Amino acid sequence: MATNASLKIDDKEYPLPVIVGTEGEKAVDTRALRTASGYVAFDQGYGNTASCESQITYLDGDSGILRHRGYPIEQLAAQSDYVETAYLVIYGELPSATQRKEFGLRLRQNAAVETQMQRIFEGFPKDAPPMAMLSSIVASLAAHYPHLATNNFEHDLKSFDLAAAMAISKIRTIGAMIYRYQKGLPYIFPKQELPFCENFLHMMFSEPYQDYVAAPEIAKALNLLLLLHADHEQNCSTSTVRMVGSSAANLFTSISAGICALSGPLHGGANTAVMQMLQSIHDEGDDGTRFIAAAKSGSKTNRLMGFGHAVYKNFDPRAKIIGKACDDVLAKLGINDPLLAIAKNLEQAALKDDYFVSRKLYPNVDFYSGIIMRALGVPVNMFTVLFAIGRAPGWIANWREVAANPKGRIYRPRQIYSGAVKRDYVPIGQRG
Ligand code: ACO
Repeated sequence: MATNASLKIDDKEYPLPVIVGTEGEKAVDTRALRTASGYVAFDQGYGNTASCESQITYLDGDSGILRHRGYPIEQLAAQSDYVETAYLVIYGELPSATQRKEFGLRLRQNAAVETQMQRIFEGFPKDAPPMAMLSSIVASLAAHYPHLATNNFEHDLKSFDLAAAMAISKIRTIGAMIYRYQKGLPYIFPKQELPFCENFLHMMFSEPYQDYVAAPEIAKALNLLLLLHADHEQNCSTSTVRMVGSSAANLFTSISAGICALSGPLHGGANTAVMQMLQSIHDEGDDGTRFIAAAKSGSKTNRLMGFGHAVYKNFDPRAKIIGKACDDVLAKLGINDPLLAIAKNLEQAALKDDYFVSRKLYPNVDFYSGIIMRALGVPVNMFTVLFAIGRAPGWIANWREVAANPKGRIYRPRQIYSGAVKRDYVPIGQRG
């Protein structure tokens, strides 16, 4: 494998060191190029730029490989659960029995949202977008726990274990409270004795004098859903967390920024958009032909939601797992969801269509995740909130990597300016 590269500009050659990852990924290190040559690397949207070295997640989009800390997603999905995978993603190793117990305890002890924080909810309109509420309320954790969020890496890393547990546990509680607030229902507080997913379902669906007891299939399906979202390398929201964190901003603030990034329909918001698409096909009695035809127009606003991925160009391994889980969960719960049949027909039609085949557009994790969430009783406007709950470990692990890197520097990309060249100011009365 090459160990050195160079770039020739006119007659001058600039050496560029090669970096090789543990899985053989190769990069040309262009950091010194601008100082040496005056040139920067141009890569709109960083599609071909490694913005960091990371030990958390390995992803090979061409082969459909996803591994957290070396462990294949298929094995984690089959044998682990969300909380254990969260520990793995954050701390780098599968926990021992004691570590798992201590971590679980920290999550249980930090689940509650204090009375003063509860008042923040009342400031939002009942129909506020849940992700807008979530990002604001998570940002407010930095105001409520300033001793854990000092914007000083050294200090914040000392209280990292507590801050990380708070973030994971409280994001889940806040998510359930947003749901209750919007429905005008009283909040249901977490129960220490309940496991993570069962506790979430309890806070969502219990009534004051009638506890919701999650069927094992439901809790298992939620575990799988959250686990499959736990981390995904340098996606838009995770890179956002790293970028914000690189300014030494604290964990809560950085995660809040990640939630904002996740809310867009091209990223985490896609699961909502998929459901809206399937529902509209169902309501109109269409077979999906119209959506496929519109998606082929090339317009960004008409894309087939849940299809395509910035990195996976063969298949999304999470979509394979979740597609199968959809069948299992619905069968176990005795649910016959017409939207599942529509999704399957749409998938078959798209996979036979040259437009999608030639562009390597396959179903991504969002294509089927909505159907599972629907089966759990989660309304469509809460789908991306569940994605955020699942993704919290990945954001936390990435923030920690940034904070703990002694050679880290603030993220500051360059640009190629393409605006007006220098011109003189014209007073308002003299403008044409
Ligand atoms: N429907 C129709 N056409 C599409 C779709 C789609 N879903 N996705 C990509 N294309 C087209 C593009 O228009 C482009 O066409 P062109 O070559 O004729 O110009 C071509 O396929 C290649 O697109 P990419 O460069 O691979 O797409 P990009 O990497 O910019 O975007 C993205 C990836 C945002 C995921 C895109 O596929 C998309 O918008 N999908 C729908 C939204 C979605 O499901 N997002 C969830 C992603 S997974 C996640 O965030 C958890």
